[in-house]
Amino acid sequence: AHGFFTFDPGFLSTASCESKITYIDGDEGILLHRGYPIAELAIETDYLQVCYLLLSGELPTQEQYQQFRAHVTRHTMVHEQMTSLFKAFRRDSHPMAVMCGVAGALSAFYHDSLDINNPKHREIAAFRLISKMPTLAAMSYKYSIGQPFMYPRNDLSYAGNFLHMMFAVPCEEYKVNPVIERAMDRIFILHADHEQNASTSSMRMAGSSGANPFACIAAGIASLWGPAHGGANEACLKMLEEIGSVDRIPHFIARAKDKNDPFRLMGFGHRVYKNYDPRATVMRDTCHEVLHELNVSDHPLLDVAMELERIALSDPYFVEKKLYPNVDFYSGIILKAIGIPTSMFTVIFALSRTIGWISHWLEMQSDPASRISRPRQLYTGAPTRHVTPFEQR
Ligand code: SDX
Repeated sequence: AHGFFTFDPGFLSTASCESKITYIDGDEGILLHRGYPIAELAIETDYLQVCYLLLSGELPTQEQYQQFRAHVTRHTMVHEQMTSLFKAFRRDSHPMAVMCGVAGALSAFYHDSLDINNPKHREIAAFRLISKMPTLAAMSYKYSIGQPFMYPRNDLSYAGNFLHMMFAVPCEEYKVNPVIERAMDRIFILHADHEQNASTSSMRMAGSSGANPFACIAAGIASLWGPAHGGANEACLKMLEEIGSVDRIPHFIARAKDKNDPFRLMGFGHRVYKNYDPRATVMRDTCHEVLHELNVSDHPLLDVAMELERIALSDPYFVEKKLYPNVDFYSGIILKAIGIPTSMFTVIFALSRTIGWISHWLEMQSDPASRISRPRQLYTGAPTRHVTPFEQR
């Protein structure tokens, strides 16, 4: 055992795609983290308990939880010099562009003192990332709106501290709304891990060369940014805003069916799920809770989202192609209702997915049979041929 977590290499097979962390049955719409159904985790636990579970394989006892939480909160501040990094970006930079830069820059502040061949040091790196990603995420937001950075508050919950760093200002008290805090924590849980998705595979690929975990996280963030992946929540909200009203839905449904039209229904479809994404179900219920708490009963975007979902789930085209709402379909409405700008949606996804990325990285690093990833290709280019001298070309 190395402190908190034991990664017993014995359970890992040499197959590179084997993992004990997350199980998905796309046809049945099942998502398990270490055997626990995602809906139970989202309702019965909190994000830090899920972090402990993904890292150790077991849910924490109350004593283990307190120790783990104390460890995470002890490292929530970033090196003060990192504040200068943000100032190097244009003020109107997309926060994901900033996150790619500052997350990778953690290598310059915390990697030199760590030997990733040492399991204890790997665990330290994991804690640094779980602790600091909310701080960096909130800093990327504050920088984009020209407000001062807010230091972490270790007396608050993980989600409460993030909301405080996002919305508090030095000159007045900011009280975290417990319903919003719970919704934020649930969004963190629902995005925590999802097996070998594109960004986690990017993290594993980068980590397989022995690159340090901070640089690998930057690779994961870069991959997540794409609209087909983590950027879908931002794209989904923009799509709902473009649709604008229920009567314009048929036009966009027709575009989604048109093979010659690149338009896709953002928030629908999934490479693995050919059934309802179990995360979307919880996200939809959370969306209703948040809108009720904020007395937003007739949110126009929710009306469009609910009608779009109803039509898509009954339309033969989408039914045949098994295109269901995914995790990104409702999250954007919740975040927008909380007051978070669309440009921060994928940053919050990256914050949430950090535990998934780092758990897979630790699992891979603990496997003595782990080798550098080196996919091969099917060559379809020109056969061998010889150079014509330049003066003859
Ligand atoms: C995430 O991998 C993960 O686990 C990712 C993720 C995670 O937690 O890490 O779950 C998070 O990335 C969720 C997905 C978010 N992306 C979006 O919502 C963007 C919109 N969705 C599409 O871009 C698409 O559904 C993908 C990219 C998610 C999946 O695309 P695939 O792999 O092509 O899906 P498919 O093979 O099941 O598609 C079947 C058919 C195809 O048409 P045909 O070639 O059979 O004619 O359905 C079509 C697709 O073109 N299709 C869509 C569609 N999604 C797929 N048509 C219209 N609208 C869509 N949204």
